Amino acid sequence: MLNPLRCTLIVMLLAFAGIAPFSGQEATQNPTTPPSRPGDPWWKHAVIYEVYPRSFQDSNGDGVGDMNGITSRLDYLKDLGIDAIWITPMYPSPQIDFGYDIANYEAFDPQYGTMADFDRLVSEAKKRNIRVIMDYVANHTSDQNAWFLESRSSRTNPKRDWYIWHDGKGPGKPPNNWQSWFGHSAWTFDEKTGQCYYHYFYVQQPDLNWRNPEVRKAMYDVLRFWLDHGAAGFRIDAISRLFEDPNLHDDPILPGKNAFGDPNIQHKYTDDLPEVHDVLREMRSLVDGLPGDPVLISEADEPTIQDLDKMYGPNNDEIQLPMDFKVADLNKLSAPEFRRLLDEIEFNPLDGQPYFFFNNHDQARTWDRYGDGVHNEQIEKLMAALLLTTHATPQMYYGEEIGMRTSVPTRIEDVKDPVGRTGWPKDKGRDGERTPMQWDKSQNAGFSTAPKTWLPVPPSAAQYNVATEQYDPNSIFNFYKHVIALRRELSALRDGSYVAVNRDDPNVLAYLRKPKNGTDAVLVALNMSAQPQTVNFTLKGFGVDGKSLHVLLAAPQPANSELSFTGVKLEPFGVLIAAVE
Ligand code: NOJ
Repeated sequence: MLNPLRCTLIVMLLAFAGIAPFSGQEATQNPTTPPSRPGDPWWKHAVIYEVYPRSFQDSNGDGVGDMNGITSRLDYLKDLGIDAIWITPMYPSPQIDFGYDIANYEAFDPQYGTMADFDRLVSEAKKRNIRVIMDYVANHTSDQNAWFLESRSSRTNPKRDWYIWHDGKGPGKPPNNWQSWFGHSAWTFDEKTGQCYYHYFYVQQPDLNWRNPEVRKAMYDVLRFWLDHGAAGFRIDAISRLFEDPNLHDDPILPGKNAFGDPNIQHKYTDDLPEVHDVLREMRSLVDGLPGDPVLISEADEPTIQDLDKMYGPNNDEIQLPMDFKVADLNKLSAPEFRRLLDEIEFNPLDGQPYFFFNNHDQARTWDRYGDGVHNEQIEKLMAALLLTTHATPQMYYGEEIGMRTSVPTRIEDVKDPVGRTGWPKDKGRDGERTPMQWDKSQNAGFSTAPKTWLPVPPSAAQYNVATEQYDPNSIFNFYKHVIALRRELSALRDGSYVAVNRDDPNVLAYLRKPKNGTDAVLVALNMSAQPQTVNFTLKGFGVDGKSLHVLLAAPQPANSELSFTGVKLEPFGVLIAAVE
């Protein structure tokens, strides 16, 4: 008799053998991934996809992506198997930091569209069972935000205390040595009122004063506003930077200089202050119990696993999905290192849900951070398998599914990201990972009809684009599609427990995913080396019954789909996902 796993296998193999264009028969359904345990919230099983709106799809030919462009690509996302999109800021902004400098939290920048466009986006997404997660920039506003314009207008303005103002230590001197993440002093002197304001990031991004109850109220109202407009949750920007030491202690100075030529400081007095967690609890209590289980995702590169664990809150009452930057930024293919990091977060004391990603709008793409220049396509598949087969909620970034690479500007005149202009040539900024989505081989890769796009389309678009890859059964795109489909299909991959096996193997990262019912376990093996490996799996003692392995998905595809536990061959950077039968 065919068990459900077998049926899946057959579907998968048929799909693999044939050509699977995204508009074809094979994946017209996108049911919301069913929670396999009653009461489990959707975000535990979702595949989340980050959309950088400037670069996803331009609908009006101005060379910049927009909301209607995103709406027009929802079928693509549905077909890929995406459950939720997180869209980086589209609010009115001078675009100094491309939207992370917000001038008004409750409107849209006209270059992206209108509130009506957004409502349409949310409702069209809903028809396809795709949720929309908004970006929530809590730490700072734009210097053009009405709140800041008032605050800087006089020392006695009622909004003066909405931001962090202090006297300098003397003429031309800042209050202390705190440094901005984007280079140079974190204090800017304001002529008019003769004081300095604090900005963790760019000069045009003044920090809000979260110790002021009015700020808290105004910012919580922002959350309510977007929930009322259908947001399924929030990705909270730079959350651990919300508070600074009120006594303005100097930060410790470390040896050397940073990319901006400034002294290297440790952000001891401006990061991860305990009050951050009070705010997180307040935010969580605001969303808890609301229909639709809104989710909070935190952005912050927590320095230690203990700091990351703390994000869940002592009673699991803070962030549901804290981003794991340690896993994202390992930057080398090392089975022992990944094993250690996966264990660390998987067995967090609060049983919080891990959240993994490898690509985003702030860091070079995996092609360039993990590729070895010889096996890059294969390594992209391996990274996809790692992202999508652990217990963590996975987050993708547009274009990773087609193997987009980082395309760094070669001349400072072309740099758009302020970080690149300040840090040039040591730090060339983040334009490289924000180039237009590569849809097809046409002009501007199908992203825009404008004569010039806001960032150039990289030459690799001719080969790596959706239209071309969808017809190639061995493409990165089809590999992603199949792993996502497997994850959706198999309870073991969706929410089974995670346990590393062959723990001493220096090259192959292998783990079991075991569903709660104990049967139908899945084994994942990832060869993180450039040499072929032959592996013997020792699964005794892991509580799985089974005598052999049945290949569900592999790259490259092995000759035989039935394997024994011993002598399993994995090609360089080879991937095996198999049912234990
Ligand atoms: C993190 C965002 O991801 C990044 O793009 C931005 O520049 C900083 N926060 C400041 O908002």
